[in-house]
Amino acid sequence: MDSNAIVPRRLRFQIPKDLPRYWNDNCPIKTHILNAIAILAPAFERLAISSVLPFKDNAGNPLLCEQLKGFIGQESAHGGEFIRYNQILKLQGYDTKRLEKGNLKRFKWLSEKLSSKMHLSLTLAAEHLTAIISDLILRDKTWLHNAEPSTRALWRWHAIEEIEHKAVVFDLYKQVRGGYFTRIAGMWLVTGMLGGLLLNNFGHLVIRDKLIFKLSFWIRTFQVCWGRAGFLRKLILPYLRYYLPFFHPWHQDNHELIVKWKTFFYQTQSFDDMVRMLQQDASI
Ligand SMILES: [Fe+2]
Ligand SMILES: [Fe+2]
Repeated sequence: MDSNAIVPRRLRFQIPKDLPRYWNDNCPIKTHILNAIAILAPAFERLAISSVLPFKDNAGNPLLCEQLKGFIGQESAHGGEFIRYNQILKLQGYDTKRLEKGNLKRFKWLSEKLSSKMHLSLTLAAEHLTAIISDLILRDKTWLHNAEPSTRALWRWHAIEEIEHKAVVFDLYKQVRGGYFTRIAGMWLVTGMLGGLLLNNFGHLVIRDKLIFKLSFWIRTFQVCWGRAGFLRKLILPYLRYYLPFFHPWHQDNHELIVKWKTFFYQTQSFDDMVRMLQQDASI
């Protein structure tokens, strides 16, 4: 088992058309935080792929070239699966098409304005955010343990692949001599931009559910973000580590998650088998 290999796994999760509205632990907040990310994912994954494409055959060393191809394969598989996920949300009455289109337009405009180094810096900042969120939702049982099985399986597959490839763009950025200040500027831009777009998506979901004026909903949202589930509280420190001058994504060492999941994946015979096991076993 090569721990450096980035393996695209094109899984199909077949989220049911009658997915419960609050599929994640029957909690609108935990559900809509992940739904808001899912709505953003296809456009963002496209932006990430376009930032590394020019380097995929000439990244400076053969291992990195292979990893970049794996990265592109994984992100394009994620994008496809999130588009299908968002179609299910559309059936629930949310205007995911409009939100997805808006995001695509914004990111396309942005990528045309940025230098290739700044574009990369944006991607590696977002990769850090997805990696720390992925670590949280894989480790912390409050996040996915009581979720609808096929949706839970999709999120866990996405999370493990995000951790698996979390350093690829960073290593490329170093290879092309990207510097500290551009890296930090990328994180500022990503924090503001993704923060705003996620809030916009979350707001749409909450308005459609007529929760926007319910005080109890906002109190509970505060608790999910800052209390035991700690969606924001638990991410602050890992987020701030990015600002260290000698930061590297693997300084947050979660290799044991990779080893555990790769062992699990290698036991399966096919992608369908993987999906079935991911759905059945919530304890992995
Ligand atoms: Fe992804
Ligand atoms: Fe990623």
